[in-house]
Amino acid sequence: MPVIAVNHPLVRHKVGLLREQDISTKKFRELTGELARLLAYEATADFPLEKTTVQCWSGPTEIDQIAGRKVTVVPILRAGLGMLDGVLDMIPNAKVSVVGLSRNHETLQPEHYFERFVGHLDERTALIVDPMLATAGSMIATIDLLKRKGCKDIRALVLVAAPEGIRALDAAHPDVRCWTASIDSHLNEVGYIIPGLGDAGDKIFGTK
Ligand code: PRP
Ligand code: URA
Repeated sequence: MPVIAVNHPLVRHKVGLLREQDISTKKFRELTGELARLLAYEATADFPLEKTTVQCWSGPTEIDQIAGRKVTVVPILRAGLGMLDGVLDMIPNAKVSVVGLSRNHETLQPEHYFERFVGHLDERTALIVDPMLATAGSMIATIDLLKRKGCKDIRALVLVAAPEGIRALDAAHPDVRCWTASIDSHLNEVGYIIPGLGDAGDKIFGTK
């Protein structure tokens, strides 16, 4: 099962607030950032630790540190940028790779317009961020690109996922886990998630 619904009360509360129709751009951005931090916390729970010794005020002390894990965060433009800073708050040394995709409103297929990846993706964990997993076309295309570059550990963080997108992601990339703040009911006839958030990119950027 590649999609993991994060049912922490803070997550459920915050994703509920995001759904308010008249939410301001400021509030939508703040909640998106907070949810990105919480999802990053969950998605990194299995990162291995190693012991090291530091000079503590009371003398040499053994501590835990993350064992040399290299991370690239991968926001899918545009809306994924709204989650980027929240993840970087938790993993400040992560590098950033960017993928530009825009969903065609008629075909619902993602149209690729930009990519810039950091080097040595075969050595990195990729954390893809995008608020919406609708048909999953954009997520699947991004994972395809990352795999072609040699990335082996790919994880995704989304705010809202549709069952249709979950099934498509599972069929295309059963090895990729995706953490979501909510699994919603369905897609409507024009490919929007119900109840969903509306157009997440427009809400984060204040467009439309
Ligand atoms: C939205 C969203 C995802 C995609 C989800 O982006 O941020 O990237 O649609 O739909 P899918 O799962 O059916 O592919 P959009 O293409 O509207 O672009 P934007 O981020 O620039 O607003
Ligand atoms: N993209 C969005 O921004 N919202 C949806 O519901 C589906 C795709």
